[in-house]
Amino acid sequence: MLRNFLVTAAILLSGYSHALQVDNFVLLDHRGDAHELFYHRGAPAVVIMAYNQNCKAATDAIPALQSLQSKYNDQVEFWLLNSDATVDRKALAQHAEASGITLPILQDDTTLISESLQAQYAGEVLVLDPRSWRVAYRGSVQSEGQTATSAIADTLDSLASGKTADAHSETVKGCEITYPDRSETASISYASTIAPLLQQKCVVCHTEGGLGPWAMNSYTMIQGFAPMIREVVRTKRMPPWHADPHIGQWKNDISLTTEETRQLIHWIEAGAPRGSGSDPLASNTIDQVEWPLGEPDLILEIPAYTVPVSGEVDYQFPTVKNPLDTGVWVKAATVVPGEREVVHHILAGTQDSDTTELRRTSGVFDNYLIGYAPGNESHEFPDGTGVYIPPGGEYLFQMHYTPIGREVVDRSKIGLYLHREVPENYFRQDVVVNPMIKIPPNTARHTEVAYYAFDKPATLHNLVPHAHYRGVASRFELWKPDGEKEVILNVPNYDFNWQRTYEFVVPKQIEAGTRLVHTTWYDNSAANTANPDASREVPWGLQSWDEMLYGAFSYTWVDENTEAPIHDKMMARTNQYVGFLDQNIDGKVSWRELPRSIKKQLVQGFSTVDTNGDGGLDLQEMHKLTERRAEQRREESEAPSPQSGAR
Ligand code: HEC
Repeated sequence: MLRNFLVTAAILLSGYSHALQVDNFVLLDHRGDAHELFYHRGAPAVVIMAYNQNCKAATDAIPALQSLQSKYNDQVEFWLLNSDATVDRKALAQHAEASGITLPILQDDTTLISESLQAQYAGEVLVLDPRSWRVAYRGSVQSEGQTATSAIADTLDSLASGKTADAHSETVKGCEITYPDRSETASISYASTIAPLLQQKCVVCHTEGGLGPWAMNSYTMIQGFAPMIREVVRTKRMPPWHADPHIGQWKNDISLTTEETRQLIHWIEAGAPRGSGSDPLASNTIDQVEWPLGEPDLILEIPAYTVPVSGEVDYQFPTVKNPLDTGVWVKAATVVPGEREVVHHILAGTQDSDTTELRRTSGVFDNYLIGYAPGNESHEFPDGTGVYIPPGGEYLFQMHYTPIGREVVDRSKIGLYLHREVPENYFRQDVVVNPMIKIPPNTARHTEVAYYAFDKPATLHNLVPHAHYRGVASRFELWKPDGEKEVILNVPNYDFNWQRTYEFVVPKQIEAGTRLVHTTWYDNSAANTANPDASREVPWGLQSWDEMLYGAFSYTWVDENTEAPIHDKMMARTNQYVGFLDQNIDGKVSWRELPRSIKKQLVQGFSTVDTNGDGGLDLQEMHKLTERRAEQRREESEAPSPQSGAR
């Protein structure tokens, strides 16, 4: 009796406290953009309709849903949730385009999210109240005899006015969603399925003395952390691999497959049963071979750093003078972190002795070697290629440390493996940058774009997206000379904490005249929990409170070999500069787009440089301009300067 009374009271107090409470999740939509449910904690409501493009009840409901969305213009978040895992991204995008669907169609590849929302039919609508994350309405958009649309609108009206809506639930008309048989999932084995999966994808960090904050060393630990594992997997926080699985194939891909994700979550939801068999995690030790590729030819000690007890440590950029007085060809590099628990990642490379002051102080490498993160200790360059390190200059490191509650002195090192003979080709590295970015305050999704113009055929080997606290998504595309655009890497939920090198399993061939276009999206709103200050206009800067549009990549020139190098540093710089000066990305730099310093030198000369007279400088014309400026500089330095005495 007492129990009944309490339940009734609770319902009276909160309206729908008996309704399903929904957990957070992150899903990608048909365009490859990420959506996190709890990001919308400030919205009056989130509306989700389970969707299947082959279900008439669902497709018929779209116009009504979209007109509801426009009624609550952008205040309420509206999503379609595709729970048919057999439909691929392209088919979904084509369907959206053909049917005039403007709402994001979230792809629930594992069907885990639809399942946990207890969605039974495509066409079923859920209105969620972000104050409690409970389902305030469940029903159809259109139902017989009565206008369900108005029932949804009533719910949204009361949520928007800060009231709790009356929990409302209706019979749904739609197409039944099929889920994996739960009786099968209840028998997933810890010993033969779950533990080996964790060992393969997680233990490299979640081990004693590893980077992860807890060690996966027994069933008891896994059982204790099970709810948290479910959460970090649903929100795509772990494993820390952020490439869109629908695009490209990568070496060192540590993401969970659809099947693995399903097994892990279903096992947890079944109560994480121990079952029988000995515990593979109990003997969880990682073979610590110091140099997995053998004894290096050159070992450099990275200057020691004392990691404080707590707080945030800014990136450190220690340098080591190049100890060699001859040039060498590196064929592979291995990083050995001193203290695995605090070394989050290390980027390593060199700066030439003649590098400009700007580059020297910007942490930009002339010759990039390796991006270390746990599980990515070594970088072997493609067969027959090497990174040439000229004599002089400095080794430069970008160190990211994370404090662990006690002071730790880190002494990391890097080992280099050298070619005995000059390799066939150069392994080269460059960066798509835009130092002119400006990110307006209180803006949730600001876009910055730049490109690198390939003037010759090349082979692309890897990509490294980089931004700071406000960077939330990043994409690399090839814009080919015939007009085709191909997305080659999509990182829809970029996380500043994880600097990853994405290395192609099959390197990409690039035609001359292709632009490598890099886009980064920044969230400079208060809803971005990583944002240190939403009221600030954010410029380019090295420090994490400023921002960068920075996409590094490694490549080889197809027509180059070490006996006949074709690479020209100045020309490569021009390929890079065009990519951010050309603000409207039409392939040429107009007079308006030119920086003042160049304009000054060209007041009479623009038309002489713009040889085809189309009002803009294309890559060839920019190259000529670069040559002309280099010549002028040579002449100036050779000619006795009339002012030299006066200085
Ligand atoms: C490359 C290293 C690495 C790998 C691989 C990795 N983790 Fe983690 N994990 C971390 C670090 C570092 C943290 C803490 C910081 C963070 O959350 O980003 C963490 C945090 C977590 C947390 C949250 C703990 C907390 O207190 O918030 C869970 C749960 C977790 N990991 C589970 C997993 C699972 C499950 C896998 C494999 C599917 C995995 N991790 C793979 C490094 C890793």
